[in-house]
Amino acid sequence: MKLTYRDFEHLWSTSLLPIAINEINKMDYEYEALTQGEENELINEIHREILENKFIKAGQDRKAAWEKGWDENLQNFRRTKNVDELVPKYFGKSNIARLGQRFIRSTSKNFDLNMLRVIQARVFSEYLVDAKDIYEFGCGTGHNLLFLRRFNLEASLVGLDWAKSSQEILLLLNKTQVNKNIFGRRFDYFSPDDNFKLEPSSAVLTIASLEQIGDKHKPFIDYLLKNRPSIVIHVEPFRDLLDDQDSIDLTSIEYMKQRNYIEGYCQEILDLQNSNRVRVHLFERTFIGSKYVDGYTILVWSPTQ
Ligand SMILES: C[S@@+](CC[C@H](N)C(=O)[O-])C[C@H]1O[C@@H](n2cnc3c(N)ncnc32)[C@H](O)[C@@H]1O
Repeated sequence: MKLTYRDFEHLWSTSLLPIAINEINKMDYEYEALTQGEENELINEIHREILENKFIKAGQDRKAAWEKGWDENLQNFRRTKNVDELVPKYFGKSNIARLGQRFIRSTSKNFDLNMLRVIQARVFSEYLVDAKDIYEFGCGTGHNLLFLRRFNLEASLVGLDWAKSSQEILLLLNKTQVNKNIFGRRFDYFSPDDNFKLEPSSAVLTIASLEQIGDKHKPFIDYLLKNRPSIVIHVEPFRDLLDDQDSIDLTSIEYMKQRNYIEGYCQEILDLQNSNRVRVHLFERTFIGSKYVDGYTILVWSPTQ
């Protein structure tokens, strides 16, 4: 089977903008359905792995691992100057993916990365085409910012991360003129640098990075409320909209718990909306994910003025 932009419009009950459709049409999304037996086997396998405590917890202790991972991308990029080297190595590891609360088997190259790009095409085209200053927190290698550039040629793009190797990549992107208006800066979600102030009317983005901070999100929310960006966009494995009565969703919920992924953040933002301190524009699961994680819920909000 082959997905087209119309399938994504149907999945999300929305109309995509032409600039998003244009990018989506450039990529392949071919897959096969699994039999009920194969799905059941996968569900059992994932539960077994969780029971064996196989998965490493996210959190403060993981900094060195991220540093090392991004350093590998940095060295490869430095050697080849090929931006494809900036795609994190965890993409393409499994051909099993999630779509519409079913497991599927992907048959096209880069399927999981392409599916993330579809979600990005939707949110970048809807919210970021006119932004002047865009900050991606937890940006890793900066590959999302390079894709974002296709939707916004002018904005200053700032990638922030606690790993030094991430900033070295962004510096190299800037220096080698791959992208002149791109910058890197150190930032730790656990202890935000209050001296680093966001430009007025800026946009904030996080993609699969807030996931790493468990329930320690208060410092970052406080930082955002103080800096008052115009818009904050998260594409994260929030577990709030998953259905614990659905056997496939449940494998993801259990996995997210074992990995100590982000918890309580969306509720905090919804509570802030109830006290009129923020306004939520979109809170939707995308029904897209990988073998272990129903990975992407979109949450878009702004501090009230
Ligand atoms: C799964 S990666 C995603 C990277 C990037 N957003 C992407 O989509 O490729 C998680 C990122 O979060 C960063 N990260 C984890 N904990 C962090 C913290 N406390 N402060 C800042 N960044 C952190 C890691 O260094 C890593 O770059």
